[in-house]
Amino acid sequence: MKTLLTAEQLAHGIDRLAADVRREADGRPLTVVGVLTGSIVLVADLIRRLEGPVQVSMVWASSYRGTATSPGRLELRLDLLPDLAGQDVLIVDDIFDTGRTLEALVAELRHRGAATVRSLVLLRKQGRAEVTMEPDFVGFDIPDAFVVGYGLDYNGAWRQLAHVAALEPSDLVPPVSHAPRPPSIDPAVDPRP
Ligand code: IMP
Ligand code: MG
Repeated sequence: MKTLLTAEQLAHGIDRLAADVRREADGRPLTVVGVLTGSIVLVADLIRRLEGPVQVSMVWASSYRGTATSPGRLELRLDLLPDLAGQDVLIVDDIFDTGRTLEALVAELRHRGAATVRSLVLLRKQGRAEVTMEPDFVGFDIPDAFVVGYGLDYNGAWRQLAHVAALEPSDLVPPVSHAPRPPSIDPAVDPRP
């Protein structure tokens, strides 16, 4: 794995993102909508840098593809959302890759009557966008590599890293199995030679 962004670089980036969001919100109430699961670390760090009335909610999105470059079918679950009518909403996601997730979410939250819908991502991959929309706030532009850490996963692993790293071919191993280990054999009672 190769470190792309250190914890310190991430912290500075989030300071900058939070300052931009505060400037735009200008003291008005803000509803932050995080996209599970990749945005959890970012949401936690971002909201602690905001001022004024902030409400936090979560949606879930998945177009899971492992490290495959083309996403699968997008699945959204929005049932945890509060009433957004008239709200200023900020959607927060970990990464803007093809942009399909964010595009669908922005449309959906507008449809629910939000007054404004802005979007923020920690990372944007270069040369991958398949949509015309751009996120309103971007932490870092990164090369087209599969990245993990700071909430981002590969097959469910590595979300807990404090930094962001790019996977290398040797990192592409099968997912860690949580299946129980077979019972160990006591040599005293094991009839096998
Ligand atoms: P998009 O809809 O193609 O923009 O994909 C966005 C989603 O794909 C993100 O919310 C991530 O869950 C996932 N994703 C895309 N690229 C990566 C990556 O490099 N590492 C981990 N997850 C990724
Ligand atoms: Mg995601």
